Amino acid sequence: MAGGGFAVDGPVTGINNGKITLSVVITCIVAASCGLIFGYDIGISGGVTTMVPFLHKFFPSVLRKASQTKPNIYCVYDSQLLTSFTSSLYLAGLAASLVASRLAKIIGRRNIMLLGGSTFLVGSALNGGAVNVAMLILGRILLGFGVGFTNQSAPIYLSEVAPPKWRGAFSTGFQFFIGIGVLAANCINYATAKQEHGWRISLGLAIVPAAIMTFGALFITDSPSSLVQRNKFEQAKKALINIRGKDTDIEPELALLIKNSEIAKAIDEEPFMTIFQRQYRPQLVIGMIAIPFFQQVTGINIIAFYAPVLFQSVGFGNDSALIAAIILGMVNIVSILVSTYTVDRYGRRFLFMEGGIQMFITQVGVAIVLAITTGTDGTKHISKGYAILVLVLMCLYAAGFGWSWGPLSWLIPSEIFPMKIRSTGQSMGLAMNFATTFVLSQTFLSMLCHFKYGTFLFYGAWIFAMTIFVALFLPETKGIPLDSVHTVWEKHWYWRRFVQSSIPEDTINHEY
Ligand code: BGC
Repeated sequence: MAGGGFAVDGPVTGINNGKITLSVVITCIVAASCGLIFGYDIGISGGVTTMVPFLHKFFPSVLRKASQTKPNIYCVYDSQLLTSFTSSLYLAGLAASLVASRLAKIIGRRNIMLLGGSTFLVGSALNGGAVNVAMLILGRILLGFGVGFTNQSAPIYLSEVAPPKWRGAFSTGFQFFIGIGVLAANCINYATAKQEHGWRISLGLAIVPAAIMTFGALFITDSPSSLVQRNKFEQAKKALINIRGKDTDIEPELALLIKNSEIAKAIDEEPFMTIFQRQYRPQLVIGMIAIPFFQQVTGINIIAFYAPVLFQSVGFGNDSALIAAIILGMVNIVSILVSTYTVDRYGRRFLFMEGGIQMFITQVGVAIVLAITTGTDGTKHISKGYAILVLVLMCLYAAGFGWSWGPLSWLIPSEIFPMKIRSTGQSMGLAMNFATTFVLSQTFLSMLCHFKYGTFLFYGAWIFAMTIFVALFLPETKGIPLDSVHTVWEKHWYWRRFVQSSIPEDTINHEY
């Protein structure tokens, strides 16, 4: 089949596959807006950590280093304390994501989103009013709990609620809102950077996206799947009628949800153990380990962090550094929309591979330009022309990420696990994503300081590896209802050896 997939375009289970109602659109926009808080935090923490009054108050050693004559552009921000400020969020997020899957069984996905939004709100207030590093880090830990909860529940919610045929498109909404959050934060940083207490405004304003998403979540119902799991069958039926439309026969979908939920309950296993059974090896390797890990070793956060620093250090000043970040943010958002349009038409594999090749070429390009212009010790000035070339390369890189590893890393783990281990699988995948982000943010500043432009080659090599991985091991899931996704493993040239087949052997057309 073209594109190497074996998408099933028609409904496989008698479920209405493609109808889009206004209600499902609104519900999914609200759920996707959970991405706002994560994005806002990413954007704000990157910008605030380059603001002089902020550094002066909390991290004066960074400023002392920057004022040395002839600073090395790769090493200015190499401070352990600054690193722990940025990365404390990810450890808290990791813990929260694991708790979230258990809690979801009791209180449902919608309430987990509410909990995440509220915790984030409190953390934002603490950060905005911080008087010492301890308060700052405590606030960040609460923000981490917040995004741990919302990043666990929102992507699954979207996959469960979206019409199967357009699941990919709906799911990209989460990354879209992350992008909006990043961009809004960059603009706010731009406006506050010169004010003495600008950092307080930047950090404190995080309550706005938190309030928006928490308020929105009050008005949506839980996903039908989550309601069925909690034996709320009548509510599940109402929720299905609401999102699929009054004139749609929702009975087949409801019956399938109930059947799967009963199977899951009858087995009564510990989901954190079930996931390690041989039959779930494909989901374990792809959804829990490879995709979340690879997303981070694309180096996206390093590029996002390094762009302002680079442009500042070549003499563009604080303003231009933030403008460069804003340009990158806008490119990113537009490219996510490209993904929204294409993901259910051309499939996940096509986007992953195109994006991967583009990101590989541009990462290597950035490394080459930096090697030629800044010299091995990183002290030479880059001319404006070369700085613009680096910006262009970074924009192409951000576009590649925006239509591949950005949105798809949330989509794939939310759609490949069967119902009984979906929450647990998504949690563990998210924990992997946070753990990798934590390790990278702990090491990246000193890595940049020691390996210099070689850092970009390091990520380039990972991008190469992950693109090959996708080509060989990721089956196409476009258009397949969640409850039939297991069939893709049965047809896959490698994964079929791990799963029990429900498809007659002679009808299988082995493909990727
Ligand atoms: C990633 C973040 C990244 C963001 C960039 C998200 O999908 O998980 O690590 O900073 O995209 O927009």
